[in-house]
Amino acid sequence: MDIQALVEPDRVHRTVYTDSEIFEREMTHIFERIWVYCGHETQVPNPGDYHTVRIGRQPMIMVRDRSGEIHVLHNRCPHRGVQLCGNTHGNTGRSFVCSYHAWSFHLDGSLKTIPLGEEAYRGTRMNKSNPDCRMKAAARVANYRGFIFASLAADGPSLEEFLGEARVAFDDMCDRSPEGKVTVVPVCHRVIQHSNWKFFMENQLDALHPSVTHQSTGVAATRVEKAIAEKEGSAPLHYHMLSTFASSFEMWDKVQTLNFPHGHGILKAYMGLRPQDPDTRAYEALLAKAYGRKRMEEYLSRSIHHVLVYPYLSVQSPLQQLRCLRPLGPDKTLSEIWHFRLDGAPEAIYRRSLWYYNLVNSPATMINADDLENWTKGQWGLESEGGDWVSFHRHFGTDTREGDVTLSTHGTSEVVMRNQFDAWVRYMTQD
Ligand code: FES
Ligand SMILES: [Fe+2]
Repeated sequence: MDIQALVEPDRVHRTVYTDSEIFEREMTHIFERIWVYCGHETQVPNPGDYHTVRIGRQPMIMVRDRSGEIHVLHNRCPHRGVQLCGNTHGNTGRSFVCSYHAWSFHLDGSLKTIPLGEEAYRGTRMNKSNPDCRMKAAARVANYRGFIFASLAADGPSLEEFLGEARVAFDDMCDRSPEGKVTVVPVCHRVIQHSNWKFFMENQLDALHPSVTHQSTGVAATRVEKAIAEKEGSAPLHYHMLSTFASSFEMWDKVQTLNFPHGHGILKAYMGLRPQDPDTRAYEALLAKAYGRKRMEEYLSRSIHHVLVYPYLSVQSPLQQLRCLRPLGPDKTLSEIWHFRLDGAPEAIYRRSLWYYNLVNSPATMINADDLENWTKGQWGLESEGGDWVSFHRHFGTDTREGDVTLSTHGTSEVVMRNQFDAWVRYMTQD
């Protein structure tokens, strides 16, 4: 497979979005090697709590054991292969018990009991010291500020090296809490997108599309926001969450993107998220008490709209949102949409996050729905024989470089996609 021939500096061949052999290679060379987000530690607060999660093509279980440690295990019985957890989440008690022949396993995946004892296996290679008798564990598990990641590869960069500059996604989210941590809201919207996972990742930092794709919503929200402001002096922040999508091309072109190694990136802030209402002032007082004014200012003035952890996470840290992709096929992608509470922050601040979750990221919103339609139509277009190449020429050659960061001189530059494909080629061509 000549990967390099499919990706040129300014365009890529359509098959990288449509070909099933390429998809399989993405699974083996990218998703089943890199650090993949499994969930937040607060999703499994008690011993026996588990969440099932997909890493590449592998069904896995994230579980907390009785000592408090979190494990990530293959969801497969070592006896004859039956999946051990059929639910998305729950509490398994003190052990996993297989529904077929009742082999049971400790919460770290090691074998606990076999019906009628191990006698029946005497003289065979199946005994407790054989690793084939346990639920296989992910090669590596690591925690960054409460966010749990696993890698199926024994070697490779550490989690912190992999995240690189994108670590700020989690720092920014946690630093906004007076206690320095967040708690997951245990409701996850799940959407199946009928398009390749790359559409989502490219779209996250695509500043040219919002005022087109989201025009109808943005314009309508602007009208209502204005009417309320005229009547009552100001409109609640959630109108702004929608009206801002209708900003002009010129405004979007001024929003900068930062493009990091490994395909990660940041779309800088463009929404005003620091209104001076009593709720915000009370919240800021708590932060100032916890960290001092100087650090609070530093935390609240980071310029972030989204942080992308390539190739599967979009984190909107100022509003505590996280979207995670689980690719299912070249034209099928599961996205999990989560949001978080800032520990120790007032309820009103959480309500803001909830508004955004429901207004922008939920499958029922007019924002997400418009994006989904574009990506489906994009998939159809790329599956057709109407042309072979996908163009990423916009502002090609005009971006500036500082060390290993590429900064867009125009917010609408397609440097975002060029940078993502740079990482993609590296992953896909490594041994
Ligand atoms: S398949 Fe699990 S106990 Fe037999
Ligand atoms: Fe969009």
